[in-house]
Amino acid sequence: MTTKIAVIGGTGKEGKGLALRWANAGYDILIGSRDAERAVSAADELNATLGKANVSGLGNADAARAAEIVVLSVPYEAHAATLDVIAEATQGKLLIDVTAPLDPQNKRKALRVPQGSAAQAAQQRLGENVRVVAAFQNISYTHLTALHEDLGCDVLVCGNDKAAKMQVVELAKAAGMTAFDAGPIENAVVAEGLTAVLININLQFKIKNAGIRLTGIPQQSAC
Ligand SMILES: NC(=O)c1ccc[n+]([C@@H]2O[C@H](COP(=O)([O-])OP(=O)(O)OC[C@H]3O[C@@H](n4cnc5c(N)ncnc54)[C@H](OP(=O)(O)O)[C@@H]3O)[C@@H](O)[C@H]2O)c1
Repeated sequence: MTTKIAVIGGTGKEGKGLALRWANAGYDILIGSRDAERAVSAADELNATLGKANVSGLGNADAARAAEIVVLSVPYEAHAATLDVIAEATQGKLLIDVTAPLDPQNKRKALRVPQGSAAQAAQQRLGENVRVVAAFQNISYTHLTALHEDLGCDVLVCGNDKAAKMQVVELAKAAGMTAFDAGPIENAVVAEGLTAVLININLQFKIKNAGIRLTGIPQQSAC
C-alpha cells in the first residue's frame, strides 16, 4: 500500500510544489485546505499536470486524519490556528513542519518565536505523541515546480526522533533532493531563520530560487 501524505496548506506555493514532487514519485497525496473545494481544485490541477490520479483534496482536518504523514506548509501567522485544527487527527503520526517564521510586515526579517522555533511551537501544541520534524524551509517553490530540473540545494532536517528524521530524508530523496540530519528540534530555528536570509539574497539578485548547499562532505549523500 502507498504511503498517504497530507499536505496542509497544499493549495499554496510551497505545499503544492512538495505535493507535485511526491505525487510524481508515486505517493498518495491529500491536499488540505480550509476550503475543501479549493483543495479539490488544487488536486485536479496536480493530477492534470502529472497525468496521474493520486492526488485528492480535502478539508485540513480530514486530510490529516486520512494520512500517515502530515506536512504543514502555511504562513507562520496561520501556524497555531492550523495546528489546532489538525491536532487530534495528527496524534501518533509524523508531522513535517515547513513553516518559516517571517516578520509579516517585512519578510526579509526572521521572526523570533517564543518557543524557539515554529517546529518547537508545533511540538508543544501537538504534544509528545506527535513526531515533529522540521524540514524543507530552504527550498524555493520555484525549484519544486520545475519538476525535471536538478534542485542543486540541500535540505536540513531537525527533530528529536532519529527514525522520523530518516523517513524525511527518504521523502526528500524521492522528491529529488539531498537531505541531512541537522540535529535536534532546537536546531530548527537555524533552518527556519535561513529562509529570511535566502529571501534577502533573492531580492538582491532579482531571483526566486536561492538555496543552500553543504560543502566538505566526503560523499554527497543523505545522512
Ligand atoms: N514559497 C516558498 O518558496 C517557500 C520556501 C520555503 C519555505 N516556505 C514556507 O512555507 C510556508 C508556506 O509558504 P507558501 O509560500 O506556500 O505560503 P502561501 O502560499 O501564502 O500559503 C500557503 C497556504 O496556507 C493557507 N493559509 C494562508 N493564509 C492563511 C491564514 N491566515 N490562515 C490559515 N491558512 C492560511 C492557504 O491555504 P487555504 O487557504 O487553502 O487554507 C495557503 O494556500 C511558509 O511558512 C513559508 O515561509 C515557503
